[in-house]
Amino acid sequence: MESLISLLFMISGSVALQQDVQAKLGADVTLQCQITTDERISVLKWSRADLNTDGYVYFYRNKRSYENYQHPSFHGRVKLRDPEMKDGDVSLILNNVTFNDTGMYECHVAVRNPVRSKRVHTEISHFINLTVTDQTNITAESGQNISLPCRAPTNNKQILAVQWSRADLKREYVLLYRDEVFVPDNQHPAFENRVDLQDRQMKDGDVSLILKNVTINDTGTYECHVFRRGTNHRIRTISLSVVSPCESLKGRFCGQRL
Ligand SMILES: *[C@@H]1O[C@H](CO)[C@@H](O)[C@H](O)[C@H]1NC(C)=O
Ligand SMILES: *[C@@H]1O[C@H](CO)[C@@H](O)[C@H](O)[C@H]1NC(C)=O
Ligand SMILES: *[C@@H]1O[C@H](CO)[C@@H](O)[C@H](O)[C@H]1NC(C)=O
Ligand SMILES: *[C@@H]1O[C@H](CO)[C@@H](O)[C@H](O)[C@H]1NC(C)=O
Ligand SMILES: *[C@@H]1O[C@H](CO)[C@@H](O)[C@H](O)[C@H]1NC(C)=O
Ligand SMILES: *[C@@H]1O[C@H](CO)[C@@H](O)[C@H](O)[C@H]1NC(C)=O
Ligand SMILES: *[C@@H]1O[C@H](CO)[C@@H](O)[C@H](O)[C@H]1NC(C)=O
Repeated sequence: MESLISLLFMISGSVALQQDVQAKLGADVTLQCQITTDERISVLKWSRADLNTDGYVYFYRNKRSYENYQHPSFHGRVKLRDPEMKDGDVSLILNNVTFNDTGMYECHVAVRNPVRSKRVHTEISHFINLTVTDQTNITAESGQNISLPCRAPTNNKQILAVQWSRADLKREYVLLYRDEVFVPDNQHPAFENRVDLQDRQMKDGDVSLILKNVTINDTGTYECHVFRRGTNHRIRTISLSVVSPCESLKGRFCGQRL
């Protein structure tokens, strides 16, 4: 009994952990999960806790993995960091991440002690909140209407709200769209009547921002956030730089009013 308690205690050291991980679009990312026990791992399930889709990210039981239990979007893109799971390392490497990979991952391990009673069976869960981002630079001329592209890693029905913010504006935002309306409170006055969503239906997760009649003061780093049930993910960072039309002509006609 004492050994069971100490086992549980040891395991509880790694339980209920949530780790935030950021990855760049296209990168390979390691989803870390390690259990502090040397009991035999009988089942390892990596899943997306925030999606109720069929299929796992990775499924292992009785010393082998099962690709047919895996969601097709993960086929050929995942592998264990250590195929032998030495020292309880059940971390997973996910290759070539896309925005769709943004979400909550659960590492679920069942361990069993083959020597002692079969009842010594423990389940452990560990969560990883993965955000896939992309930084883009855009240059525009003052007076132009521009679009800052952003695509949510989800379809429109799951989107509760969209917020565009700018790093230097602190609490005031550029645009907040919630329950199909634009929320005016706390919008920075410079953006009043100048911003819109490219597609208010947010079809295919398109939450791109339209910014009209840009001025030099619009230069800055914009962030696109998408709120889904229980989560807020920054999914895109765009550095906008607004120049006068004269500058974009690299000096030609500068100073002349055309
Ligand atoms: C990564 O994924 C993208 C599409 O999601 C694909 O176009 C690209 O070829 C992939 N790159 C590699 C190295 O597999
Ligand atoms: C992301 O998911 C959407 C909708 O499920 C799909 O149309 C799109 O092709 C996916 N993109 C990638 C890069 O996997
Ligand atoms: C965008 O600009 C920043 C600095 O202004 C630079 O560090 C970064 O590499 C640029 N990114 C791309 C994709 O050009
Ligand atoms: C910007 O959009 C407004 C309408 O929203 C339009 O009246 C104006 O002509 C556009 N400006 C440019 C430079 O395209
Ligand atoms: C665009 O902005 C400039 C300066 O901020 C202003 O003078 C001009 O009237 C604006 N144009 C439109 C179409 O709103
Ligand atoms: C930019 O901001 C400054 C200071 O707030 C203001 O004086 C100036 O008129 C603004 N310029 C434009 C083009 O809006
Ligand atoms: C996931 O991470 C993002 C950014 O790293 C954060 O804004 C968000 O609140 C996190 N979600 C949860 C459920 O902790």
